[in-house]
Amino acid sequence: MTFANTFLNIQKYLPITGDINLKTPIAYKATRGAARVINAAQMALGEAYVNGLEIPDSVYRSLINSSMPLLFQHCPSLLAPYEWVLNETDHIAEGSRELMKVQYDLPQAMLNQMLGDWKLIYPKYSMGLWERGAVDLEESQKHMIDQVIERLEIKDGDNILDFGCGWGCVANYILSKFPNVRFTGLNLSHEQCEYMRRKMQDPESYLSSGRFTLYEGDLNDAQFAEKFDKILSIGVFEHVGNLTNAFQKLASLLKSGGRVFIHIITARIPNNMSSGFTHKYIFPHGRYWNYDAIPNHNQDLKTISQWYINGINYHKTLTDWLRRFDDHQESIKHLDYSMDYAKFRRIWRFYLLMLGTIFATCDGEYNGNGQYLLVHT
Ligand SMILES: C[S@@+](CC[C@H](N)C(=O)[O-])C[C@H]1O[C@@H](n2cnc3c(N)ncnc32)[C@H](O)[C@@H]1O
Repeated sequence: MTFANTFLNIQKYLPITGDINLKTPIAYKATRGAARVINAAQMALGEAYVNGLEIPDSVYRSLINSSMPLLFQHCPSLLAPYEWVLNETDHIAEGSRELMKVQYDLPQAMLNQMLGDWKLIYPKYSMGLWERGAVDLEESQKHMIDQVIERLEIKDGDNILDFGCGWGCVANYILSKFPNVRFTGLNLSHEQCEYMRRKMQDPESYLSSGRFTLYEGDLNDAQFAEKFDKILSIGVFEHVGNLTNAFQKLASLLKSGGRVFIHIITARIPNNMSSGFTHKYIFPHGRYWNYDAIPNHNQDLKTISQWYINGINYHKTLTDWLRRFDDHQESIKHLDYSMDYAKFRRIWRFYLLMLGTIFATCDGEYNGNGQYLLVHT
């Protein structure tokens, strides 16, 4: 028996450290108990911050910078606060209406200021790609979509579905590059759909070209009269709890030989993870699939390529969102958040600071973004 085998054998009896999937039942239970303690500590800090505790950003960042490498490298199973995060849920996406209320249908003026809203690049709520030398957020988002075009091998004439299309940013940019591409966008957020409907009437927008079709509806119920050459889904599978069912659905929407491109936040640890704080205040039912979760669900779709994108790219994106959020306080503080604005601001600062910092820990090697190219099996 090799040293590595002996170590794995011993590790299955040890709680807290290593891969939770290999634990004996007792070590598993003890590890889950410890995860609850870590989660409670994170929540207590978050709630205290929301309720007015003054923590300078620099102190908060150093707290994360010192604790997260330990968790990522030695105790990854403590990063899954809920049992359901480790397994698949009943539906493709759970609690979608609640998610829209808590997050995506918030005052759009706030989200649009934070994410940026330009002539070609509409608000885009996902990672910008900075490693190709982007000088600002707008350029990082163009570079990100350029990379999607390359990796999904988009060709003029393709009929493409954007599964969770946000404000139509990716569609608008790709339609501007390819005069014969057709795009369909699916999104449950009424407010984001209203944004796209206005763009569909605006002669300056490529969404008004007659080549863009919008469906306001839930991923769970997605059905279309036609099949697609390509499907892309960017920053949406964090809301998908059942990969098996989601891939079955996507496969049914694809032409034979068609391809699917998925971009998600991911963690290079053995299990899926989540955050109690973001689950309560920002993304109900949200989770990060571990880097191998998608290729491990090869029933209806098979992964033919996968790429890890270093977390520094998302760190820079989130840092810019936080700066923009802070810079626009005067214009966004009077909007209706269904709660006191000071509390809302603190919730969002905690979220943006926490996420922005975590993606930079361990030089971005553990917590980053994953991209996957899949075909019909
Ligand atoms: C993080 S945003 C990403 C949007 C866009 N792909 C982008 O990169 O900017 C997630 C998007 O998924 C949509 N979404 C989340 N859950 C959904 C559901 N169950 N049905 C339809 N759309 C959903 C949200 O409204 C939002 O537009």
